[in-house]
Parts: sequence; C-alpha cells; structure tokens
Amino acid sequence: MPLFSWRPEYSVNDPALDIHHRKLFDILNAVYENVMNSLEVDNVLPAINELSAYTKYHLMAEERYMREKGFQGIDAHIAEHRLFTHKIEMLKTNYHGNNMEVTQELIVLLGEWLLQHVIREDRKY
Ligand SMILES: [Fe+2]
Ligand SMILES: [Fe+2]
Repeated sequence: MPLFSWRPEYSVNDPALDIHHRKLFDILNAVYENVMNSLEVDNVLPAINELSAYTKYHLMAEERYMREKGFQGIDAHIAEHRLFTHKIEMLKTNYHGNNMEVTQELIVLLGEWLLQHVIREDRKY
C-alpha cells in the first residue's frame, strides 16, 4: 500500500506540473514500499540520485511557470526550493553505503516536502 498518494485536489491546475508532482509521490512510495517489503535499502542511493535530478528539473520548470504568471510570492517560494535542494544534497553527502538511517531521512524529508510544500505552497501560484 502506498504511503501517501497524489490526489486530484492537490492539482496546481497545470497538467505538466501535476505530472511532476505525481512523479515525486511515486519516488516516495517506491522507497517506502521497498523498505516495507524487504528491508532492502540498497536501492536508496539510486532513489536519492533520482530525487535530486528530478527535483532540479521540476523546480526549474515551476520557477519558470511562476515567473510567467507573475506570481507575487515567488521570492519566498524560491527560497523554500533552495532549502529543499540543499537538504537533498546533504542527504547525498551523508550517504555512506548502508542505510536505514538515510532511507528514513529520505522518506521523512520527501514526505514533509509533499505535505508542506507541494500540497500547500505550490497550490498558491
Ligand atoms: Fe512543486
Ligand atoms: Fe514549489
């Protein structure tokens, strides 16, 4: 069972950006299910790398979209993006081969991001 699924009410009314957000939910659920099913955490590094690359791609697209729309809260919003990007990079740096601890951090970090940023802040633009 997925940890946390995307729902239509999370839509930001832009089909491309909704697809990006769904992909982030998928990454979270894949990591979570991996842990729940097998306690297998070897795949966490690819997941971190995927999250890192996809986040860069998504945030760039989102920032472009906010600029085009002249969204007023863009500066504070971009500051949140930078902080999240920094936390993902920290996760990468702290990863040393094993690990349940980093896996848990990844789940918490991405879970909180989806709850507090994607389904709250992103819906303001
Ligand atoms: Fe977003
Ligand atoms: Fe955002």
